[in-house]
Amino acid sequence: MPSPSNRVKEIVPSKSLEIAIKVLDLREDGHGVIGLHVGEADFNTPSSILKSTQKALSENKTKYDLVQGNLELRKSIAQRFNKLNHGNITAQNIILGNGSKHILYNVFQSLLNPGDEVIIPRPYWVTFPESVKLAGGIPKFVSSSKGFQLDLDAIKEAIGPKTKAIVINSPNNPSGVIYPPHVLSQLLTLAKEKDLIIISDEAYEGFIYDEERPFSLYSLDKETINNTITVQSFSKTFSMTGFRIGYAVASNSWITHLKNLGGHQVGNICTFAQYGAIEALSLSEEEMQTHVRELQERRDLAYKLFSSLFDCFKPQGGFCLFPNVSKYIEEGRFTSSQSMAMEILEKTHVAVLPGEAFGLPDHLRLSFTPSKDDIKNAFQKIKEFL
Ligand SMILES: Cc1ncc(COP(=O)(O)O)c(C=O)c1O
Repeated sequence: MPSPSNRVKEIVPSKSLEIAIKVLDLREDGHGVIGLHVGEADFNTPSSILKSTQKALSENKTKYDLVQGNLELRKSIAQRFNKLNHGNITAQNIILGNGSKHILYNVFQSLLNPGDEVIIPRPYWVTFPESVKLAGGIPKFVSSSKGFQLDLDAIKEAIGPKTKAIVINSPNNPSGVIYPPHVLSQLLTLAKEKDLIIISDEAYEGFIYDEERPFSLYSLDKETINNTITVQSFSKTFSMTGFRIGYAVASNSWITHLKNLGGHQVGNICTFAQYGAIEALSLSEEEMQTHVRELQERRDLAYKLFSSLFDCFKPQGGFCLFPNVSKYIEEGRFTSSQSMAMEILEKTHVAVLPGEAFGLPDHLRLSFTPSKDDIKNAFQKIKEFL
């Protein structure tokens, strides 16, 4: 059999895979496992979204569509984006993809030549480095400062002649941190000075707690679009993970590059799913807030419980707690957070993810998306075990 490409051989399989396989094994053996490892809320997709998708199907909206995405959908996205971010984009500044994961892949493919570098602050979402590598790029990891905030000095130091982009993710997966406007403003200035692109992954923009949307680069400066590619998703905000709809907001020239790439890759995304997305954008603020309030309560509960066991940052957004568990490793109870996560799963049947997967060993990622009862039970089991 011929060997696979080096490109594929170099992909680091997700460190969370080992946990996910073990969860499946345990469930197959009849054990109930509480899944604090999943990055998905347990909310159903709102019924009006399902109805619109079904209507599109019954009206035979099943043919090829524009590579860039349905125009009505892009116009609605632009409207929502401008309202929330004080932007001035149009439908021409948007391209749709099969989830934001696909968009990110295409962004790196269209931006990087072999050997180009992309700065990725720790902790990071697992897909960023692999997606950079698949485009021939080199991920350059930088440490964060206290409270998982961006360390601008570390970023400045990491910039070299081959640097093309800086990836930020706010609200952040796994830490739940949100970057404040003054930090974003300095980052934008730096990107302009050094002629870099900020790739801003805002997949969790719909789940911000305690305060109102403080993080938009667009509210800072109307020229932002020349140095920014913003990546957003319907997955989390509208409980539509399986629809696979994400999008990039970028300058006309980047949209053209992404369109040229997409035209030979997947063509358009699922035609009828896009009608569900159009409906999603007409949900009332009240409907949207129901899920946010529920997750905020779960966040509060999870934070209250687990911060009695671990050194814990209170997430400002997103789906996860990311406590520091170095105390348990230094005491010699576990050799790493990977082994700690595995032992917790084996002994308590609660699944959590190791920090190694997110570039910060000595941490665990605990998702607070399961029900409050599950969060309480998971806490009790982990507490007894520890
Ligand atoms: C930070 C971040 N970005 C992007 C995604 C991908 O979302 P999707 O491809 O469903 O839009 C995820 C999924 O977990 C994520 O955590």
